[in-house]
Amino acid sequence: EKGNYRHYMQKEIFEQPTVVAQTLSSYIRPVEQTVALPQMDFDLAGVKRITIVACGTSYYAGMVAKYWFETFARVPVDIDVASEFRYRDPVLEEGGLALFISQSGETADTLAALRHCKENGQTIAVVVNVPTSSMAREADLLLPTHAGPEIGVASTKAFTCQLAVLAALAAHLALVKGKLTAEEEREIVRHLIEAPAALNAALAHDDDIAAMAHLIAPARDVLYLGRGPDYPLAMEGALKLKEISYIHAEGYASGEMKHGPIALIDEAVPVIVLAPSGPLFEKTVSNMQEVRARGGKVVLISDAEGIAEAGEGCLATIEMPSVHPLIAPLVYAVPVQLLAYHVACAKGTDVDQPRNLAKSVTVE
Ligand code: F6R
Repeated sequence: EKGNYRHYMQKEIFEQPTVVAQTLSSYIRPVEQTVALPQMDFDLAGVKRITIVACGTSYYAGMVAKYWFETFARVPVDIDVASEFRYRDPVLEEGGLALFISQSGETADTLAALRHCKENGQTIAVVVNVPTSSMAREADLLLPTHAGPEIGVASTKAFTCQLAVLAALAAHLALVKGKLTAEEEREIVRHLIEAPAALNAALAHDDDIAAMAHLIAPARDVLYLGRGPDYPLAMEGALKLKEISYIHAEGYASGEMKHGPIALIDEAVPVIVLAPSGPLFEKTVSNMQEVRARGGKVVLISDAEGIAEAGEGCLATIEMPSVHPLIAPLVYAVPVQLLAYHVACAKGTDVDQPRNLAKSVTVE
């Protein structure tokens, strides 16, 4: 079943161009270059607020989507992890859309949060990978991902497929809210169509990443930094590393580093910086310099332009294709997944069955 792959996780990382394309094909009409959502019996244009609830990696997909819903559709978004949300008595106003993201569709806390929102008059949308799951059955709007069965405990392909669906949803919401012209929608759809090729280009760096894994494997702590939509990616990178290699890792918003975590920096703490070139790049570079000035070793993940500008003096650089900011989070997921994977292999841990973890968390 694993074919030529050593682990399910590795196979699932490499399946991403295919399954993202498969997922996108049910959300876009390639000829018209428009987004197509399943039928719904509520008025999406009337949505005043979105509440996103999820756990773990699915929560990080939701954090990326928050940036998209706010930037493109100008709809305010509240987001929380399910275990906090369900007990904090959140304020849920009428006309709200509650959006749940889950690979399994069975995560106990997320399901309880969904039921709470339903009882409190929210319209329920779910992004799930298992179409027969409890969450899928209880939704007003079911937005399936077509990642296929995910066997590795650490989520990889489900995450990028969630992002693909959420990007399509954000574009559609923006259109019905009158924040995008039909031409702008077509442009977004063209970028989405390019995502699978960009994922392939990112996967082509597998060997480089494997070759640098020994630089990270001896570390006790690793920091991941990112800004904007790359901030959730930094947290996702840290989560993947801790889950499968058992190295302590933290994902931080680049600008927060000087408010505390910078105290940790020394030669022994590698800092992984996720920074596509763009308006926020200079700011992240200055955070990188603060790390270097304290002896910190930086691994820069950026595009050719970013690496040309800031790659010198880094411990290593990983070059990603230059892509539209909308698909950057999908593309940058790949190197953080591969880095965690190769570090775990270097350490000899059980990649597909990490200790203490279950694939589906059906108890709270
Ligand atoms: C991380 C991971 C977990 C899950 C989380 C939510 O690699 O797999 O953090 O993302 O348990 O699971 P789902 O998406 O099934 O609700």
